[in-house]
Amino acid sequence: MPHLHLESFKTPSFPARCGDVEFDFLARNAGRGDESLIATRYKGREFFLVHKKNEAKELLKSDKVTRPSPNFIVKHALLAYAECAGLNILDSNVDNAPENTHLKTHDALKTIAFFAENFPTQREVRIEVGFGSARHLLHQAEANPDVLFMGLEIHKPSIEQALKHISIRNLSNVMVLDYDARLFLEFVPSNVVGKIYVHFPVPWDKKPHRRVISEAFLNESIRVLKPQGTLELRTDSEEYYRYALETFSAPGQSRFEVYKNRDIAVSSKYEDRWKRLEKNIYDVIFTCETESPEAEAIGDFTFGSTQNPAAVLERIGSETLKREWGFLHVERTFTIEPDTVMLRLAMGSFDRPESCYVIVEPGRTRYYPSLPVRSRANLAAHTLLNELLHG
Ligand SMILES: C[S@@+](CC[C@H](N)C(=O)[O-])C[C@H]1O[C@@H](n2cnc3c(N)ncnc32)[C@H](O)[C@@H]1O
Repeated sequence: MPHLHLESFKTPSFPARCGDVEFDFLARNAGRGDESLIATRYKGREFFLVHKKNEAKELLKSDKVTRPSPNFIVKHALLAYAECAGLNILDSNVDNAPENTHLKTHDALKTIAFFAENFPTQREVRIEVGFGSARHLLHQAEANPDVLFMGLEIHKPSIEQALKHISIRNLSNVMVLDYDARLFLEFVPSNVVGKIYVHFPVPWDKKPHRRVISEAFLNESIRVLKPQGTLELRTDSEEYYRYALETFSAPGQSRFEVYKNRDIAVSSKYEDRWKRLEKNIYDVIFTCETESPEAEAIGDFTFGSTQNPAAVLERIGSETLKREWGFLHVERTFTIEPDTVMLRLAMGSFDRPESCYVIVEPGRTRYYPSLPVRSRANLAAHTLLNELLHG
C-alpha cells in the first residue's frame, strides 16, 4: 500500500488545500497518542490519511476503512499533504506518475452500496451464486442479452478473471460483486428475479450452517423470485442434494423438480472434474409460485441530537455488544476538537461486519464520510448505537 516514511510529522492549519486536494480536520486517537487521521477530499471523494508513529518510524498512509480506489488517489493525496505540511520524506513507495486513465475501475464491478441504493429493475434479473470460473455466468449472459446477470463471488481471483472475460467478450449485461450471497438477497426488491443459480456450492458437510442453501436463503429467494422464477441447485454432493430436497420441501406449498446426471448447455470446471471421476450430478430446481409483498422499509441512519459528546465516551465502553442480528463494537475513539469526538465502529452481521466512523459534536451526530451499507444488521446496529448515544 502506498506510504511515506517521514522524518517528523507536522500539521498545516486546517482546513488546508494543496492543488486539487483539501484537508479538512485532524482526529487524534484518544487512547494512544501515536495515531491521527487527516480528513482528505479529492474531486468529491472523502477519505482519511493516517499518520502512525512507532519507535522506529513516522508513517503517512491511507486508512483501510475509507481507502479510495484507484491507488492513484491515495498517492496523489499523500504527496499533496507532504507538500502542504512541509514534510521531509525519508523514503516512500509513492511515485509521482500522472493518473493512468486506462486503469479506470471496471464498469461491471459493483459495490453492495450500488445495489442497496438503486437496485436495477428495468429488465429481468438472474443471479449466479459463487460463479467460480464464470463459464456458466458468461455463457448465460451471451445467450440472453436482454437479461441482466448479477454474479456473486467471495474469491477475488475468480472476480478478476470474470472481469477480464467480460471485457474480452464485450458483455454489457453482467454485473459482478464481491459479496456473500447469503446476505445479498436482502437488497433485492421482491418479484424481480427470473433465476437464481447455485452451481456446485461448497458442500460444508461438517459445518452445514455455512451452506448457501438454508431455510432463510430459500425464504428470501421466494420473495425476490417472480412467479414461475426458479432457484436452481446443481451439485455433486449427495449429502447436499438430500439436504436441499428437505429444505425445498419445507414451505407449506412447494414445487420442485429433481434430475440426475442431466446435461446443461455449459459445463463448469468443477463439473468437468466430477464427470471425469464419474460422480453423479444432481439438480434440484425449486419453482416460485407466489407473488410476494415488497420488503418492509427498515429505518434509516439518522441520529438524535447529542448534548454532551464527552459523556458519550464514558457511556460507550469498548466491550463488543452481541445480539441475535449481529454486533456493535467501538474499536477506537478519536478527538477532533475538545467538544467533538469520533468513533470507529465495527458492526452489523457476524458474516459480513462493516467498519465505519461516526462524528459526535454538540447537537449533531453523523456518519463520516459516508453512511454504512443499508443492511438489516447495520440498521439494527445503528438503532442500538443511537440508544447508547442518546440514552
Ligand atoms: C465449488 S466452487 C463452484 C464454482 C462454480 N459455480 C462452478 O460450478 O465451477 C464454489 C464457489 O462458491 C464461492 N462461494 C462460497 N460461498 C459463497 C458465498 N457465501 N457467497 C458467494 N460465493 C460463495 C466460492 O468462492 C467458490 O468459488
